[in-house]
Amino acid sequence: MPVYPPFDLRVEYLKEPQLIEIPRPRFFWKLKSDIRSDQQTAYQIIVASERAFCEQEVGDYWDSGKVSSQETTHIPYGGEEFLSCQNYFWRVRWWNTSGQVSPYSDIAVFGTGFMGSSKFRANWITMADPETYAGPVTVLLGQNEPPDVQCLGIYLRKEFKSRGRVTRAMIYISGLGHYRLYLNGQRIGDRALDPGWSDYNKVALYSAYEVTDLIREQNAVGVVLGNGRHLQKYGYGQPRLLFRMEIYYEKGGLDIITSDESWRVSGGPVRENGIYYGENYDARLEQPGWAEPGFDDSGWKKAVAVSGPQPAAQNIPPIRITERLKPVSIRSADGGRYVFDFGRNISGWARLKVSGPAGSQVQLRYGELVQPDGRLNQATCDRARATDIYILKGEGQEIYEPNFTYHGFRYVELEGFPGRPDGETLEACFIHSDVGRCGRFESSSELLNRIHDCCLTSFRSNLMSIPTDCPQRDERQGWLGDVLATAEAASCNFDLAAFYTHFLNLIRQAQKEDGSLPDFVPPYNPAVYPADPAWGSAYISLCWHLFRFYGDRDILRKHFQSLKNYIEFLKQKATGNLQLTLGKYGDWCQPGSLVPKKTPLELVATWFYYHDVRIFAEICRLVGRKEESKEYAELAEKIKTAFNRAFLEENQYKALRQGPVDRFPDQTANLLPLLLDLVPEDRTEEVLKSLLDALTIRHDYHLDTGVIGTRFLFEVLNKFGLQDVALKIVLQDSYPGWGYMVKEGATSLWERWEKLTGQGMNSHNHAMFGSVDAWFYRGLAGLEPLEPGWRVFQVKPYPGLDEIRCSLVTVQGEIMLSWKKTAAEFSLSLAVPVGARARLTFPPLWPSCAIRESGTLFWEKGNFVAEDPGLGITLAELDHRPVFWVESGSYEFLMEKA
Ligand code: BGC
Repeated sequence: MPVYPPFDLRVEYLKEPQLIEIPRPRFFWKLKSDIRSDQQTAYQIIVASERAFCEQEVGDYWDSGKVSSQETTHIPYGGEEFLSCQNYFWRVRWWNTSGQVSPYSDIAVFGTGFMGSSKFRANWITMADPETYAGPVTVLLGQNEPPDVQCLGIYLRKEFKSRGRVTRAMIYISGLGHYRLYLNGQRIGDRALDPGWSDYNKVALYSAYEVTDLIREQNAVGVVLGNGRHLQKYGYGQPRLLFRMEIYYEKGGLDIITSDESWRVSGGPVRENGIYYGENYDARLEQPGWAEPGFDDSGWKKAVAVSGPQPAAQNIPPIRITERLKPVSIRSADGGRYVFDFGRNISGWARLKVSGPAGSQVQLRYGELVQPDGRLNQATCDRARATDIYILKGEGQEIYEPNFTYHGFRYVELEGFPGRPDGETLEACFIHSDVGRCGRFESSSELLNRIHDCCLTSFRSNLMSIPTDCPQRDERQGWLGDVLATAEAASCNFDLAAFYTHFLNLIRQAQKEDGSLPDFVPPYNPAVYPADPAWGSAYISLCWHLFRFYGDRDILRKHFQSLKNYIEFLKQKATGNLQLTLGKYGDWCQPGSLVPKKTPLELVATWFYYHDVRIFAEICRLVGRKEESKEYAELAEKIKTAFNRAFLEENQYKALRQGPVDRFPDQTANLLPLLLDLVPEDRTEEVLKSLLDALTIRHDYHLDTGVIGTRFLFEVLNKFGLQDVALKIVLQDSYPGWGYMVKEGATSLWERWEKLTGQGMNSHNHAMFGSVDAWFYRGLAGLEPLEPGWRVFQVKPYPGLDEIRCSLVTVQGEIMLSWKKTAAEFSLSLAVPVGARARLTFPPLWPSCAIRESGTLFWEKGNFVAEDPGLGITLAELDHRPVFWVESGSYEFLMEKA
């Protein structure tokens, strides 16, 4: 049998990253084998400075030699010190269980940024006295933010000559708020809204582009800058550029071009521009050839050097257009307006195709909704202007896409269009951080599939270099409660390891000296300190998630001290081991209200205190800090006692009562303690009964939970084997629930359980209630990691539907699982990645059954009857239940009623 070479090579979770800046980056690969139970027994990695060396299987930087190991993830580099700004080439091979070695993998490349003490040397530059406009006044936590002065688009250019044949040319660039880069008239790369957002008092992210093939004898670089979030009101000031280009010649030597005062600057066609504002573009102001050599820039001004933040390598997948949508309908309204419906509520912008006389002004207004009469309803955009304006230059067909904004929209109202628009006039461009897809889920329930689609659309719309709350109104911030709610569900569908690793760095940067964290990151407004404990918990929860889901132990060590500082902050804020002062949002957005009317803020805040301390005690243990582990475990016990003393009343946990007749148990208040075994053992049954009463009798199988309760409800129902209740809740199509949203025409998830169409807090594209999607994988399909990184995982289907097909690419490899149920048969296909094993529990469908794998009988009348050890299946439990260990390989199971 062939031994296949490793594939899907990654460095620090990324495919061929260009800006590795750590001395010992970690390597990952995946394996494929036709042999059941196969495993890696050894590997060999080579890293070379030239592709040719790698081709000849020579690792001049590192040859690991044959290393006995089963690990295929997080393997730290162990070779020579890397140089700055270079490419390195690597490949890997493996030995299988029978000792055969594979061919080497294909060659993968990665680049380095500025290593060790070397620095990104260049000056931040900008335009002196650019034209400005008054940005919109936004509102945060009920308060007007300061008014803002923003700049019109700033254009910068620089010419240079090259000296002979170029072997490699690289550009390193950061432009704040965002930039667009051109070389010799050509736009470079397809990144949108680059670089990603950060706190510019701390760092500015930068990106790298290889431009070797574009260098000529005479060259010109052009850069356009927009405001993004580099705003005066956040304390930053006007846009600025940091640029460095390295050109290596065949005959040896190197030229370096950096941003400095020799650059020329000017205004241009990009006028007012802002994330919330939209963009005004006057094509009559275009200066043809401005980014090409030989352009007459005598009318341009000299750039000025300014101060700016530390650059830091950006190691996340870029934001770019990932999908283009055609309109599903165009409706004409009065006043020469047309409303385009793109069928789905997404994040991005519309691309305009137009021809007409110079000076015609075309306006695009974006919105999530329309009025009953078909006119655009922009109310949910709140204070975001969400409008793009294009002024024609009048030279035949013109195509326009904005550069420095994005919108949350399903509808676009077009006004001032010369002539009659058609299906080609506008195209919706879906933009977001282009993280790869890693999971697929489909079931026999059409409603469930549509809920799943809504979840996916809202996850995508809210990956904008940071996880945001919504894409349409004047917020779009990295609210921590929202990422806490969705991280697991989003990770079942998208490859978020690098994205969250990066976001954790931003969270750490946002931590204050007293250990406190903000409610959103980057903390663009100081009013968000200190965080509600439910929001602040995102820090430790995301670290823990990276450990469990991706098997990343290093993340625990890396953030250890900052996590400890946060826990200590909480401890210092506690009163008698309770969190009575930090809660602000709690179980935010319960049915009928923003601020929870039913669940006490103190209960949720104290629960998160316990949650975080408990996880921290576990982290201490994992990183070998035994004493601290004991200390925090003891603290957790104290919190538990205080929690029950303060909130446990007879058979249920405390709720805020609406009036004297309201004695019903609260769902969230009861489910949270049940999840973490906070309930005293002898009371568990009663509390669970109270919760079930609340779910099934009082609310007729509807939830009554907000962001936090909803996030954990399904875990609790899973824990107590109540999948039937969970499924009934999910499949409701009456208020409140996901089915209700779908029935009311949602194509993405709402912020509120209510259908609200006026102004206020009622976005129609909020990811947070997408937490339920994790239950589709975990509860219905039955997939769950039993060991960090899916090395060992559970397969425990809940056959409440007829059929499910799903797959999940984990760091260990791809798990494929589908099952189908009929009256007398349950068939299940399962693929377990090389090196992993699954604990498969067949559902108790019939009192007696027979189970075959590809025709081979191995279970009959409650007994394991397999004879062939090569089958890859062994019995996992001895109590006559069909629970098995399944080793790597592909399996076709058939369970039949006996
Ligand atoms: C956001 C939420 C966020 C919340 C804090 C809202 O304005 O949209 O998703 O978590 O504020 O309570």
